[in-house]
Amino acid sequence: MDEQRLTAFFKDLHAHPEVSGSEFRTTGKLREALEEAGVRILPSGLQTGLVAEVGGLRPGRVIGLRCDIDALPVCEESGLAYASQNEGVMHACGHDFHASALLGAALLLKEREKELCGTVRLVFQPAEEYGNGAQAVIATGLTADVQEFYALHTYPPFPAGTLGIKEGPVMAAPDAFHIRIRGKGCHGAQPHKGISPVPAAAALTLALQSATGLVVDPFSPAVVTVTHLAAGNTWNVVPEAALIEGTVRTLREADRTALRGRIAAAASACAGAYGCTARFEWEAGSAAVVNDPVLCAAARDIALSMGFAVDRQEDTMSSEDFSDYLKSAPGVFIRVGTGGEYPNHHPRFTADPAALWPAAQFLARLAETRGREK
Ligand code: NI
Repeated sequence: MDEQRLTAFFKDLHAHPEVSGSEFRTTGKLREALEEAGVRILPSGLQTGLVAEVGGLRPGRVIGLRCDIDALPVCEESGLAYASQNEGVMHACGHDFHASALLGAALLLKEREKELCGTVRLVFQPAEEYGNGAQAVIATGLTADVQEFYALHTYPPFPAGTLGIKEGPVMAAPDAFHIRIRGKGCHGAQPHKGISPVPAAAALTLALQSATGLVVDPFSPAVVTVTHLAAGNTWNVVPEAALIEGTVRTLREADRTALRGRIAAAASACAGAYGCTARFEWEAGSAAVVNDPVLCAAARDIALSMGFAVDRQEDTMSSEDFSDYLKSAPGVFIRVGTGGEYPNHHPRFTADPAALWPAAQFLARLAETRGREK
């Protein structure tokens, strides 16, 4: 494997994106490249995505390197020569870059397998964007003995050659709430004969704007956003029910629990004040991604020794199911500078291919160095 071949592999993946759960071609291409190099692919039963392994010949730690491989339902407008050939689907989050970087690392590690201490478990995870990809991988049991996890993610604010490494929480827990307010429908001209859920829904929407201020320390980031408000369908009928949905983003578990309780309380109080009832539903997402400080320091040292610039990544209230792996072992979610003017998920998002080969080398070195650790 060399830089030219890896770049060609990346461009091919970019041209053939597949959404969560449909990554069949992508999985096939990865499997082919890994098998050609003699990398062991472990039996997992996964429909898409795969888990491979290098090392295990000398004692050492079990290091997990994880990438995601799925694309988004976005119409690409990048103008790249290797733009998506799959209409309406695009690698707008750089998961093609992640998969290629991990493939490169796998092949580099394979070349040095005899000298490797410990085992490197390579996770090519499906369905990060819309699905339960991390949970599906974890359910295979193939990550149960991993002692440290690492993942890279493309990061437009930094140029190629810069890595973002920061200890502590770096991505949020993304929870959803669904509140159904029930009143009693009637004629719009006789509101006293029914109970309108509309004022209750309006009051609750406003009450939720103050939810964070009531329970979260202002120095702790938290978001409550109402994104969906619906009631009725015409002008002269009082509807029976109203629906309010939204998202809660937190970096700390205590804030997450406090906000859940506050929103549930506001829902029943606002509904009750207007003679309605509320049904509150909480849909928990993955936890916040929290980077281990000791492993961050180790990753930073390795990056600097390889000539990378290391910066602190910005916190974001978006989310990543990488946190599911961190329930069983510590790890680091690292941002890899890939330049470009547009953010992740934008139709004009691009990842600089110049960042790819160094990223593969970094992952290989990281796994090799950490595997030797006592
Ligand atoms: Ni992503």
